Amino acid sequence: MLEKLCNLVKSCHKAVVLTGAGISAESGVPTFRGKEGLWGRFRAEELATMEAFMANPKIVWEWYNWRRELMGGVKPNPGHLALVELANHFGSFTLVTQNVDGLHRAAGSTEVLELHGNINRNKCVKCSAPYEESDIDPDRIPKCSRCGGQIRPDVVWFGEMLPGEVIDTAFRRSEEAELFFSIGTSAIVHPAASLPITAKHCGATLVEINPEETPLSGLADIRIAERSGEFLPRLLEAIRSGIGSGEKG
Ligand code: OAD
Repeated sequence: MLEKLCNLVKSCHKAVVLTGAGISAESGVPTFRGKEGLWGRFRAEELATMEAFMANPKIVWEWYNWRRELMGGVKPNPGHLALVELANHFGSFTLVTQNVDGLHRAAGSTEVLELHGNINRNKCVKCSAPYEESDIDPDRIPKCSRCGGQIRPDVVWFGEMLPGEVIDTAFRRSEEAELFFSIGTSAIVHPAASLPITAKHCGATLVEINPEETPLSGLADIRIAERSGEFLPRLLEAIRSGIGSGEKG
């Protein structure tokens, strides 16, 4: 399996990686689903929708401040770091993430398509103008200097559109990909979950790295039932030590 994957890395020019909460799990960031997942402990419709924010912005901000604090204290893990080096093996490498934690950039990945926004950014709820001050007091939520709208976290909530240019680029690169990695995602939230399906239909070899099976598992050409922070560094080590005989054509 490792040799086959090394061969693919050596022979493919265009790769796309889609990550989800699982890649940050080994850094200590909770995932959404599963036993300890956030959506087992909190109700998404009360915290991550526009309706929730309009009804009770204080509670929504308290929850996001708690998550910011949690994410502020964590560091990239060997999985994030391995992806920085993996990028160097391809002519075109696109890293697409559903995560809002910023850990790919903290690891050193330069070009990251953040589908669901970034928890450390804020914007106006009405006109979407960015709001530079990062600390928000839930008892005194600031107002937009342009239109007076309340300031909200710059993340995508349920029922909202993804940033157009970001998702368009992600689909375009997925259509062109020769190799597509789906890493640490339950692959059930669309449109993100459509990216690997699109890539596969357009001819890419699909690799899934996830200890648990997902709706994508049956479609995957290679399934690695391991933690990303353990498997990805091993893959890099294998590539470095010359395992596999593939050549870029
Ligand atoms: P989920 O919580 O749905 O899924 C996390 C996945 O990571 C699961 O399939 C786990 O098996 C897997 N996993 C756990 N630990 C892992 C590890 N060490 N290595 C590899 N995989 C591991 O998270 P997402 O798929 O990211 O959306 O969720 C998608 C979206 O749903 C999120 O972006 C968020 C959420 O609601 C919004 O907030 C808009």
